[in-house]
Amino acid sequence: MKHRAILVTGASRGLGAALALRFAAPGVTLHLVARDPVGLARTAEACAARGAAAHTAALDVRDAAPLAAQLLAWDDAVPFDLVIANAGVTGGTPDGGGLEDWATADRVLGVNLLGAVNTVAPLLPRLVARRAGRLAFIASVAAFRGLPDSPAYCASKAGLWAYGESLRARLAPEGVGVTVCAPGFFASDMSRQFSGRHPFELSAEAMAERLAHAIEAGRGRAVVPRRMGYPLRLLELMPSRWADLATRRFRFTVSD
Ligand SMILES: NC(=O)c1ccc[n+]([C@@H]2O[C@H](COP(=O)([O-])OP(=O)(O)OC[C@H]3O[C@@H](n4cnc5c(N)ncnc54)[C@H](OP(=O)(O)O)[C@@H]3O)[C@@H](O)[C@H]2O)c1
Repeated sequence: MKHRAILVTGASRGLGAALALRFAAPGVTLHLVARDPVGLARTAEACAARGAAAHTAALDVRDAAPLAAQLLAWDDAVPFDLVIANAGVTGGTPDGGGLEDWATADRVLGVNLLGAVNTVAPLLPRLVARRAGRLAFIASVAAFRGLPDSPAYCASKAGLWAYGESLRARLAPEGVGVTVCAPGFFASDMSRQFSGRHPFELSAEAMAERLAHAIEAGRGRAVVPRRMGYPLRLLELMPSRWADLATRRFRFTVSD
């Protein structure tokens, strides 16, 4: 299905910008949210060059009330038919070692999990009333297995995956679709913060293309690439001691 009124959070750079560009076309209205107005303007300009109308709002997805007010105003003007909750931050074992601290966990859970809830919750009653539209959640393959060096990030993505799966089961009979996405590594500012190996890394554009294809096809789940995500899912079936041993072979630090 072709979508015509699209919200993308985290659209100032990285995957969000690549997804916005991937959907940009004549007749399409894009609504772009992130904190950095300069990055947002850059994405909007690139979308406009492809013939789309693009509107931006510099907002923090953790600020639920102003975010809701902006999304409802946009929806009044052009009702959304695709909402992509993509904004995210990373965190974990800091360079030099040590444990992830409380401030990191608070930021990561606040943006990645509650920020996504803040994005979709105000719009849900309207989508259901219209019996139309699709939500897409950008989780991660980190949703499938807690990794020793990024507990809050894995928890935020596992939570987001579960939230999306719950909504998909609930909303399908009401005419609203949900695609939960679990990307593996792709090149971006975020992936550059990881010190470890980046197996099967794609470009942000290639990842956006594959996720957009799954969204347009109306798929319920998109794990990209599968050879990264499925082994992590299988670890869940192993005894915890073996699974922990396996994950301890994949260590990294995360820079600010
Ligand atoms: N890169 C990877 O390998 C990878 C793998 C799996 C999943 N993911 C997920 O994919 C998504 C996009 O990641 P990326 O690699 O493109 O990251 P990125 O290049 O660091 O971009 C993150 C985007 O999120 C926005 N953002 C961060 N905090 C925000 C906040 N509080 N409020 C509003 N916007 C905020 C950033 O904009 P501002 O800074 O301007 O606010 C930026 O536009 C994230 O959810 C990430 O967890 C990434």
